[in-house]
Amino acid sequence: MKTYHHIDSLRETLNRERAAGKRIGFVPTMGNLHDAHLELVKLARETNDIVVCSIFVNGLQFGLNEDWDKYPRTLMEDSQKLQGVGCDYLFNPDDNEMYPNGLDTQSRVICPTMTDVLCGASRPGHFEGVTTVVTKLFNIVQPHEAVFGIKDFQQLAVIRRMVEDLCMGIQITAAPIHREIDGLAMSSRNGFITEEERPKVSQLNKSLNWVKDHIEAGRRDFGDLGDEARQQIEDAGFRVDYFSVCNSKTLAPAADDDRNITILGAMFTAGARLIDNVSTNLTEGE
Ligand code: PAF
Repeated sequence: MKTYHHIDSLRETLNRERAAGKRIGFVPTMGNLHDAHLELVKLARETNDIVVCSIFVNGLQFGLNEDWDKYPRTLMEDSQKLQGVGCDYLFNPDDNEMYPNGLDTQSRVICPTMTDVLCGASRPGHFEGVTTVVTKLFNIVQPHEAVFGIKDFQQLAVIRRMVEDLCMGIQITAAPIHREIDGLAMSSRNGFITEEERPKVSQLNKSLNWVKDHIEAGRRDFGDLGDEARQQIEDAGFRVDYFSVCNSKTLAPAADDDRNITILGAMFTAGARLIDNVSTNLTEGE
């Protein structure tokens, strides 16, 4: 695997690969890689000739009181892991390479409405930072396909919408959530869960599935289901940030006749904010 820190040199290499007819798959990350990230790379590997991964801790998507400076930077370990799963090129720019004019005057990409709800409601500006950096990375790498994890469902939905709205012509592939045995979705933030909390944190996933089962059994009182699920999570000892039954494409609150429904939740542990989601595709009559 070859590592690039500069846009120009990566572009030169990828232009050559493209000219040779190679299909390019791309996995953007912020590093501190765990198995779920490696699954994204493996998925990109299956359908592309070349796999590019980026590691960039994007200041633009962190709020003022969020932990940008504390975000773990583990480049050596990450590089070894990426090599192990057959990544061809790693792009690891610094802040100056990505934002040479600084953050304040950086042109932005805005995807309205979908970014104001759920995670966007408690993290103002976060998705604008994501859509902006992803657009820049797409412009640099110019991939045929990019792979994102379903765990960050809102991010995935927003990126799909941005790609559609801005005619980017990039195939967006969704990688399934990688889970621990008890259902906890894998995340870099799981390292902040205390030993005492660990046996109880899978309640978020249990409550999401509980709601999904009831919807599949015919219930459409989404508000009441959400309230019951919130109570279950609070009874397990966690503060709920949001719990919502949504239309999978628009992320608007689900309507009775919606067929593709995603249930999304976020809760706070002592040291982390955990998110998770489950989806259901109802067939006619369900
Ligand atoms: O999901 C992430 O790790 C980040 O939001 C992304 C897509 C790499 C943009 O910085």
